Amino acid sequence: MKRSDFGDDFTWGVASAAFQIEGAPSADGKAPSIWDELTRTGKIAGEGGDQGIDFYNRYPEDIEMIKDLGFGANRISLSWPRLMGTGRERLNPKGADFYDRVIDATLEAGMEPWVTVHHWDIPLALWQEGGWTRRGIVEDFARFAEVCAERFGDRVKKWMVFNEPASVAGHLVLGLYGRKGLHPNTTLRSVHHINLACAEAGRRMRAALPEDAEIGTTNVMSVAYPYEPTDERTARRKRAIEALAIDMHLDPAGGLGYPFGANRLLNLMKRHIEDGDLESARFEYDFMGVQCYGPLVALRKLPVVGAVPTMTVPGAEARVSSAIGIPQDADALLWTFRKYANHPVAKRMVVTEGGFGGQDRLEPDGRVRDDIRIWVYRRNLEAVLAAKAEGINVDGYFAWSYADNVEWVLGRSPRFGIVYTDYDNDYRRIPKDSAKWFQRLLTTDAGVD
Ligand code: GAL
Repeated sequence: MKRSDFGDDFTWGVASAAFQIEGAPSADGKAPSIWDELTRTGKIAGEGGDQGIDFYNRYPEDIEMIKDLGFGANRISLSWPRLMGTGRERLNPKGADFYDRVIDATLEAGMEPWVTVHHWDIPLALWQEGGWTRRGIVEDFARFAEVCAERFGDRVKKWMVFNEPASVAGHLVLGLYGRKGLHPNTTLRSVHHINLACAEAGRRMRAALPEDAEIGTTNVMSVAYPYEPTDERTARRKRAIEALAIDMHLDPAGGLGYPFGANRLLNLMKRHIEDGDLESARFEYDFMGVQCYGPLVALRKLPVVGAVPTMTVPGAEARVSSAIGIPQDADALLWTFRKYANHPVAKRMVVTEGGFGGQDRLEPDGRVRDDIRIWVYRRNLEAVLAAKAEGINVDGYFAWSYADNVEWVLGRSPRFGIVYTDYDNDYRRIPKDSAKWFQRLLTTDAGVD
């Protein structure tokens, strides 16, 4: 496999998110986010919620290494409470300075900053007002997005509005943010508000950004196994699961409304839809960020809204499952490309995250042998090539993640990085075998086997 197989215009990047890497939860005027509160109340396994991987201080070294590995793009996210305190405050100049420095260092390294406006770390104060269940959040979020576009739009040309609404829905269903989330009604109401918020944010950003800026967003995107059902019952179940886990987050922006016909549970959504909402929820993105960590499964009934099931898919590949329990099967990615190739929500797709969470070990010889991760990336990239050969427009791949970081409630384990974070030794960064594999792929003519 060679870099040239993907074409000159293909974007190669690494991805991360503010809470997972920055640390410095109260530095320079930052207010707490819901994730700082989960850290404070002990909901994050082990330790680390407060420290991240100290990207707040070590970003120059990290950006240098990302460049050395051969990547051309660095995806980060902006922390709302770092930039706007409790959520509706004026821009915090020190918080904005931090992102200025990161963006400038990325550009100076010859890489392109790709910026996610929101990757789950909503200000705690807004959460306490009702979070995504409160309709007023639509305006609050749109204003935040607009402020970000105004401040960084002179240098950032690639934007993603919101990372994985489906995961936020999943967190609500699991009661992670408190018992209030436990009713499907609350989740669906929040999902509707997130759809409205993203579209409104997209419009404000488009008005504030120069013409050459591109506005995308990212979603959990996958298909349910079996990929080609042979009986009508399984096909119906597959549609019902995909509607609830994926399509309700994509279809409204594409002007398709909600997939009510596919899943009766979605009827609960109707009471939250006001006149004109389906029109307001439309927004044509320049690209859709695909984040597929494995297939959904249509073989059994799904008990909850929005949560991604993690049962084993039959077949050899599926026997490898990530440390968060997701079966690995790159065919899910290929079928996802096929399903969404002509979806009206965006003209092209970029894999804005892909990767593997494992229990990597730093060995005495200083190496981290993460063969499974290399295998996962190779299979993912083969799926990208297969899609391109079918004429499907996929033009970028971002590895999740550059370095091991805080995997939300799971804390420091599993490790998702291609670079090992040595938490016991001053957070040293040590490229794993997979980082060297990417480096060979991206910087040598011979590529990788
Ligand atoms: C995604 C999420 C990332 C990261 C990744 C690995 O759903 O956007 O922040 O945690 O999963 O599990």
